[in-house]
Amino acid sequence: MVIGAAGTIGGALLQALQTDGRFDSVIGLLRQGVPMLDLLSEASIADAAHAVARIAAPMRLVIDATGFLHGGGMMPEKSWHQLDAEHMAKAFAINVIGPALLMKHFLPLLPRDGRAVFATLSAKVGSIGDNRLFTNTAREVT
Ligand SMILES: NC(=O)c1ccc[n+]([C@@H]2O[C@H](COP(=O)([O-])OP(=O)(O)OC[C@H]3O[C@@H](n4cnc5c(N)ncnc54)[C@H](OP(=O)(O)O)[C@@H]3O)[C@@H](O)[C@H]2O)c1
Repeated sequence: MVIGAAGTIGGALLQALQTDGRFDSVIGLLRQGVPMLDLLSEASIADAAHAVARIAAPMRLVIDATGFLHGGGMMPEKSWHQLDAEHMAKAFAINVIGPALLMKHFLPLLPRDGRAVFATLSAKVGSIGDNRLFTNTAREVT
């Protein structure tokens, strides 16, 4: 199962798993899918887990490819001058609390016997290309 299957990486992973042929079924969960899953709503995560449990448990591989970097007028800060509490709270809710809630509701669907993997993607600064900038900024601040 791929969560965030409408995203760039999630969509590519879903397609790769579907063509791989090693799994009996491959499921993609989206914010605008059925069942819908919104990381900002624990009830939607619980409902999605119940729905998936009925059709696909036990699951051998769960990949969380969700993430929030910018949107809704919010851009990643490039300096401490730009820190914004509302943006940080939203990023924390989606990038930190969200994956933790996914584990709470989806880890019980993984079998105890044999190999099973729950993987969640994250990023230090959201983009590989920004890492050098982040390091330089950290050096300047210290
Ligand atoms: N691209 C990179 O260079 C890069 C590098 C390192 C790490 N990463 C990490 O890899 C992950 C995926 O990156 P990406 O480039 O594929 O990003 P992306 O194209 O923006 O996809 C992000 C996915 O997260 C979903 N999402 C956002 N908020 C959500 C919410 N409240 N509830 C449920 N789903 C939500 C989006 O759903 P919608 O489709 O409904 O908007 C979308 O499917 C992120 O964690 C990112 O930090 C990316």
